[in-house]
Amino acid sequence: MEIKKQTNLRGVLTVPGDKSISHRAVMFGSLAQGDTRISHFLEGADCLSTISCFRKMGIDIKRNGEELLVHGKGLHGLRAPEGILDVGNSGTTTRLISGILSGQSFVSELTGDASIQSRPMKRIMTPLLSMGADIVSLKNNGCAPLRISGRPLHAIHYNSPVASAQVKSCVLLAGLYADGITSVTEPVLSRNHTELMLNYFGADVHSEGTTASIRPEPQLEARDIRVPGDISSAAYFIAAGLLTPDSEILLKNVGINPTRDGMLRVCRDMGADITLLNVNQEGEPTADLLIRTSSLHGVSIGGDIIPTLIDELPMIAVMAAFAEGTTVIKDAQELKVKESDRIQVMVDNLKRMGADIEATDDGMIIHGGRPLKGAQIDSFLDHRVAMSFAVAGTICDGPLSITGGDCVNISYPGFYQDLYCLGHA
Ligand code: S3P
Repeated sequence: MEIKKQTNLRGVLTVPGDKSISHRAVMFGSLAQGDTRISHFLEGADCLSTISCFRKMGIDIKRNGEELLVHGKGLHGLRAPEGILDVGNSGTTTRLISGILSGQSFVSELTGDASIQSRPMKRIMTPLLSMGADIVSLKNNGCAPLRISGRPLHAIHYNSPVASAQVKSCVLLAGLYADGITSVTEPVLSRNHTELMLNYFGADVHSEGTTASIRPEPQLEARDIRVPGDISSAAYFIAAGLLTPDSEILLKNVGINPTRDGMLRVCRDMGADITLLNVNQEGEPTADLLIRTSSLHGVSIGGDIIPTLIDELPMIAVMAAFAEGTTVIKDAQELKVKESDRIQVMVDNLKRMGADIEATDDGMIIHGGRPLKGAQIDSFLDHRVAMSFAVAGTICDGPLSITGGDCVNISYPGFYQDLYCLGHA
């Protein structure tokens, strides 16, 4: 993928639906009784993996015009899958579905691509095993492929060592099938889409501080869901609009849930001109974001804000390299276990562009403001790395090319077209 420099980005853009919310809408719709209609569903490869897993377990999911229609069969309506469940590249599918599968009355196996087979699954196996689940890492390395023999589960209180919505959601979903109230406490609050959406479907989830608890065996009722634009996808256009001279972009209907909006707060700290319009606080909050070219400076990022911008840190690292002054990112060791080791991959690739950046144990230190030049970038098949460098390529001098650039399809099919339709070479 070859990226060219652009100037004055202008226009209005609706980014694709939120990935986390799209996954959950299909999963919870499948477990609910009746028809769930989902609009602005993300047709990215990750969410298609979730659909294919639930289809294999007998759920009828189809397109109906602009909407996705899920014919849910209730909490106990899944059937044993024919063959292995393929989760592709999707950590969310793997971890959330494992919680659901643990409480079923059948045996299932799941696996995915090379990246998924190297990502840590002990973090979900530990709480699931203590609920009495039978979950095995088939290569005995704490990773997928996993075999799950569904069985009756016990309620637990789990003190999670990581702030991870995937771990929290996995335990809460297993808690749907447990024999009492299951709760999870995390060190810092992670995204709360599971809690909000399960309650919307009629479950009884209670949240207090960083603890969420769930009562078992609710009757989930089908609901209509409008998926907001994904702030993690908007992040690329927020950065492009701020960094490209003479730009003004309006991003329509972006999710601004406070457990996801850390990027906006960091951008403002960096000196960004971002205005929120048409704010709607009902359900999952949304707004239109007006982005104007700004001169940015370095900041310190760490602590409780990290889970609220974890997927945006690759883009923030690129922004920091273009900003004046030093940016320190800490408490972000989770970056090492994403689709790639995002600390190493961002540091290596930004160095190739001429940036002054170093990796630390839990983040990076970036001395911004050096002139950056085009380079050959390796995406390591990580969608967020590819998109962050595509934005860098529209700003830096000289051509930039990305190997494995097609991986943007994981979360943002049409990304390159959207980037180019706003710009003027
Ligand atoms: C997600 C949670 C986050 C995030 C991922 C999606 C989710 O992962 O990075 O892209 O939908 O719950 P962790 O829970 O591992 O932090």
